[in-house]
Amino acid sequence: MRPSLIADLTAAMGKAFAAEGLDPALGRVTVSDRPDLAQFQSNGALAAAKAAKANPRALAEKLAAHLKSDPRFAKVEIAGPGFLNIDLTDAALAEALAAPDTLFAPDTSKSRGKVLVDFGGPNVAKAMHVGHLRSSILGDALQRHFRFAGFDVTSDVHLGDWGKPMGLLITEIASRQPDLPYFDASFTGPYPAKSPVSMEDLEVLYPAAAAAAKADPARDEAARIATMELQQGRPGYRALWRHFVDVSIAGIKREFASLGVVFDLWKGEADVDSLIAPMLDDLKARNIAELDDGALIVRVAEPTDKKETPPLILVKRDGGVLYETTDVATIIDRVRSLAPSLILYVVDQRQHEHFEKVFRASRKAGYAGEAALEHIGFGTINGTDGKPFKTRAGGVLKLYDLIEMGKAEARKRLTEQGIGADYPEAERDEVARQVGLAAIKFADLSNYRLTNYIFDLERFTKFEGKTGPYLQYAAVRVKSLLRRAAEAGEAPGAMAIHAAEERDLALALLRFPDALEETLRTRAPNVMCDYAFRLAQAFSSFYAAHHILSEKDAALRGSRLGLCALTLRALETSLGLLGIEVPERM
Ligand code: ARG
Repeated sequence: MRPSLIADLTAAMGKAFAAEGLDPALGRVTVSDRPDLAQFQSNGALAAAKAAKANPRALAEKLAAHLKSDPRFAKVEIAGPGFLNIDLTDAALAEALAAPDTLFAPDTSKSRGKVLVDFGGPNVAKAMHVGHLRSSILGDALQRHFRFAGFDVTSDVHLGDWGKPMGLLITEIASRQPDLPYFDASFTGPYPAKSPVSMEDLEVLYPAAAAAAKADPARDEAARIATMELQQGRPGYRALWRHFVDVSIAGIKREFASLGVVFDLWKGEADVDSLIAPMLDDLKARNIAELDDGALIVRVAEPTDKKETPPLILVKRDGGVLYETTDVATIIDRVRSLAPSLILYVVDQRQHEHFEKVFRASRKAGYAGEAALEHIGFGTINGTDGKPFKTRAGGVLKLYDLIEMGKAEARKRLTEQGIGADYPEAERDEVARQVGLAAIKFADLSNYRLTNYIFDLERFTKFEGKTGPYLQYAAVRVKSLLRRAAEAGEAPGAMAIHAAEERDLALALLRFPDALEETLRTRAPNVMCDYAFRLAQAFSSFYAAHHILSEKDAALRGSRLGLCALTLRALETSLGLLGIEVPERM
């Protein structure tokens, strides 16, 4: 784990606690919640005094006496009933800034563990929609943070490619083109190499099939049978299904590419099909699964449950397997092939009960091995009417269209701001793409993941306030300043802290490792969003208060350029972890 100022201070405080015969774990130091009073604080003396039945202020006095001998502290004060308030010396701050690589480079020293991140979760034959946006943005930000912090990360898109939707499609195509060889049970192959349907076709066929099955029980029954036959391996159905998957993956990959999201694995529910039969046998043999009214279930309710947790259904009465079944089998597959210590499922909070059942059943069966299983839920994206976001016509908004809307809005904003009027067309387009995506991603990530938020592109693309474009603009401004410095032959020099704004900027910079760890701990990138935003604000105050290029004193000029360079690095690093690019100029 990278060294951090807070960790250092906590260690120093812990020593003082230990010297007083107290539990060093109580000596936690945090950033002060009263920055007007001190830079850092520690509240442990209160708890320690309570435990030791001592006077907290007297105890705090003793702890302070130990700390005063540490030359890094400019001030150690006791406040209120026994809080310790601490300031660092400017020299200590400057020294902490002098090792930018330990702060802002990815940690490659040794793996902190294997993590599998399951996110994205698009479904075959359906266009990706706004519902997949949060999973994709959040999952990608998490995979980037874990990787940066030194975890060995594998991401898996976990395609929805194996349920009744597949049977529905097969029957729909059979009703439209009954002469295709896929439906001829006596056909011996080989099947055509070219898909009879395109992605666009599938997007029309699927809703038609779903509507037909709803209206006509016979069609619904046919789809159920087709699903079962597909799962049992009927060659024509498998061949047709392969085409669905292939054309869908090509389309889905384009969508993810336009979001800047990359996966290590393109596995799907169907990949664990061969594990299901032996899994069912195993669960039956060990009496973990039981028959209940013709269905095969695992009871997962626990006495401490506040509300009843229904059993997990492995096999329905009609013999079909379910989403829950493939998710349990996927855990077997992941544990066998990767042995991760943690599996994160970045999926809509409305699926919470599903995952709770899957996790309990997997643990009960011993399938999870060493892996901790966690559902990383998130809320919905709503329209300005407060209901889940839709197109103006009331339909589901496709991810592709949503990204295009973001780009168009960003372009409008750039024009309003007079940015890029003189850029070549291709560059203007590229900046609009980067800004549009930043607007969408930052708006999503800056909301705590479990809260719902309103999709309001006009607000997201503003260049003021807590937005992606504001942060990009802040970074680009520093970039251009550094470029002008370089052109004038000026280079960043050793950093020294003299003024209040420099001190605040230094403190904002030094909080990065803690923001990273806090993001990982809570699996909530809004922490990193706050970090980037506070840093940009601290920079803006610093920039407003001090001369940089026009500073006469060469050492001071170098120091301030050093702070600028470090700020740019911190902004680019934190935005990078959020999946946000910084344009060259804007
Ligand atoms: N395909 C699913 C959906 O659209 C999401 C899959 C999430 N991952 C999982 N392992 N169940 O709702």
